[in-house]
Amino acid sequence: MNDSDAGNNKFEMLQAINLTKKYEDGLTAVDALSFAVKQGEVYAMLGANGAGKTTTINLFLNLIEPTFGEAKINGITTHKNPLDAKKSIAFVSENVMLYQDFSAVQNLDFFSKLGGKSNYTKDDYKNVLLRVGLQEEAHNKKLKGFSKGMRQKCGIAIAILKDAPAILLDEPTSGLDPKAGLEFMTLLDELRSEGKSILMSTHDIFRAKEVADFVGIMKEGKLVMQKNRDQIKNENLEELYINYMSGYIDTAA
Ligand SMILES: Nc1ncnc2c1ncn2[C@@H]1O[C@H](COP(=O)(O)OP(=O)(O)OP(=O)(O)O)[C@@H](O)[C@H]1O
Ligand SMILES: [Mg+2]
Repeated sequence: MNDSDAGNNKFEMLQAINLTKKYEDGLTAVDALSFAVKQGEVYAMLGANGAGKTTTINLFLNLIEPTFGEAKINGITTHKNPLDAKKSIAFVSENVMLYQDFSAVQNLDFFSKLGGKSNYTKDDYKNVLLRVGLQEEAHNKKLKGFSKGMRQKCGIAIAILKDAPAILLDEPTSGLDPKAGLEFMTLLDELRSEGKSILMSTHDIFRAKEVADFVGIMKEGKLVMQKNRDQIKNENLEELYINYMSGYIDTAA
C-alpha cells in the first residue's frame, strides 16, 4: 500500500458537497463546490479577492445557510445540526474578535471555559501562548494594545486549546511577520501530525505549496484546480495560479 492508498482510508473530517451560496443580491459566491479534508491533512485554498473562500468557511461554520448542497464536519451536516457540528471545529478568523479589556491569558481562559474546557491551568495557557510565539511579556497584557499578528496568535492558541479534530483558518498568516509566519508553518505540521484536519484560506502561494497536502484554487465561486502535494511538487504554483486567474487555462469545462 502506498501513501496515497493509506490516505484514502482516512475519514473525511471536512466535506463540501455541491456547496452553493447565492446571496440575496443574486451573486453566486460559492458555486457547486465539492472537496474534502481528511484526518491529518492540510488543505490550502487559494483564490482572488472575492473568489468565495471566506463564504465557504462561513458555510462550514453555519454563519450562513447554503442555498444548495451541504458542508459536513465530522460527518455532520452543519446547517441541519449546527450545535453538534460546531463541537468538532475550531476557527480562527482573519480579524480575530477577542475581549479587548482581557489579557491574553484571560481571553484563553474565558474562551476555553465557554467551550467546556475548564481544567486548563495557568501553565497550560502560558505553554500554548509560547507555542504560537506570543512573547511572555505580553501574556498578561490587555488585548487592546496588541498588534494584528499578536491577536492572531491568541486566536490560534484558543483554537489549539479547543482541541477539535478540525480547524478552519481564514488567512491565518495575513498579520504575521516573516518569523512568525515560518513558525506558523511548523505549528501546522505539528497539528497535522496530531491528526487534525486543517482548512485554510490564504494568499500565500509559497507557503501553501510548502505546507499543504492539497492546494485548491477558487475562481468566481468554483473550485477550478485541486492538486495534491506530489502533483504540485514540480509545478510553478504561482504561474499556474496566474494562468487560472487570467483565463489562460480554460475552466469552463
Ligand atoms: N453578505 C454578503 N452579501 C452579499 N454578497 C456578499 C456577502 N459576503 C460576501 N459577498 C460577496 O461574495 C463574494 C465572495 O466573497 P468572499 O468574502 O467569500 O471572498 P474571499 O475569497 O474570501 O475574498 P478575500 O480574498 O478578499 O478575502 C464577493 O463577491 C463578495 O462581495
Ligand atoms: Mg476572505
